[in-house]
Amino acid sequence: MEHDKQRQLWDEEHRKPTALKAMDSHDPSNSVQKFWQFLVEGRYARAHGIEMGCGKGRNVIWLAKRGATMEGFDFSEVAIAEAKRRAEGINGVSLQVADATHGWPYESNYFDFGIDCFASTDIESSVGRTFALTEMKRVLKPGGYAFVTFPYMSPLRRLKAGLGLYKPYANISEPENFYQFALPVKETIATFKRHELMPVYKQPLDAVKGLKDEVSLLTPFFRWAYKSRSLFAKGIRFGTNLLFQLVASHVMLAVFQKYEK
Ligand SMILES: C[S@@+](CC[C@H](N)C(=O)[O-])C[C@H]1O[C@@H](n2cnc3c(N)ncnc32)[C@H](O)[C@@H]1O
Repeated sequence: MEHDKQRQLWDEEHRKPTALKAMDSHDPSNSVQKFWQFLVEGRYARAHGIEMGCGKGRNVIWLAKRGATMEGFDFSEVAIAEAKRRAEGINGVSLQVADATHGWPYESNYFDFGIDCFASTDIESSVGRTFALTEMKRVLKPGGYAFVTFPYMSPLRRLKAGLGLYKPYANISEPENFYQFALPVKETIATFKRHELMPVYKQPLDAVKGLKDEVSLLTPFFRWAYKSRSLFAKGIRFGTNLLFQLVASHVMLAVFQKYEK
C-alpha cells in the first residue's frame, strides 16, 4: 500500500472513528498509565517525553497533566488539529504534523523517554518501521527509555496460527489496510537490541480484548465485559486478566533503555 494512501486512511479514521474507537477517547492507554508508574518509581516524573504517532493526543495530554513536558507528532493533520484543540490551556504540550518514516524534527539525545503506543505497528512497510526505530533511538538521551505497546503473537494467537486460523506476520508484511500487525515478541525485542535499545521490562496486557477478538464463541460475552461499566463486569475483567494474562493478552508493553556508551 502506498504511504499517501495510508495517511488518507488515517485522516479518514481520525475524522470519523470506526475501526479504532479507543484512539478517539480522552482516556490514556492502560499501558501508558503503567509506564507512568514505572517512570515515577524511577524518579522520572518531571521528564521530557515524545510520542510518535500521538493521534488526538490522549497520552501526551494525560502525561503533561501529571507534570511531564510532552511533545507529540502524527502524520495525520486531522489528528494533530484535534489534539491541539484538546490540549488548549494545558501546560507542557507541544504538537506538530510529521511523518515517522522521514527524519524526525528533533535534535539528537534530546528526550528522557519516547512513546510508541500502537504507532510503529501501523507503519505499512518494514523499511519504514525500522527507520522509525532508528529515529526513536537517535532522539533519546543515553539512558533514556523507549516505551512500546504493540499487539503481539500471544500463545493463543500462535495456537490459532498453527491451526491455520491466523495469518502469520511473515505473510502480511505489506497489508491491504492500516490495521496493526501482531508482532512476535522475541523477534521484536531482538530488533530493538540490534539498535542498542536494551529491554528492561515487559508485561502482557488485556486478556479480555485478546479473548474477545480471537475466540468467536466467546466474543459476545467478552464484548459486553469489555465495554460495561458495571461492578460485575469490572470483576470479570479483573479475573480474566489475572487468569489469562500470559496466554491470551492482546498487547505487549515493553520498555527499552538506550544503551549508554
Ligand atoms: C492506532 S493509532 C495510535 C494513536 C495514539 N498513539 C494513541 O495511543 O491514541 C496510530 C497512529 O499512528 C499514526 N501514524 C501511522 N503511521 C504514521 C507515520 N508514518 N508517521 C506518523 N504517524 C503515523 C496514525 O495517524 C495514528 O494516529
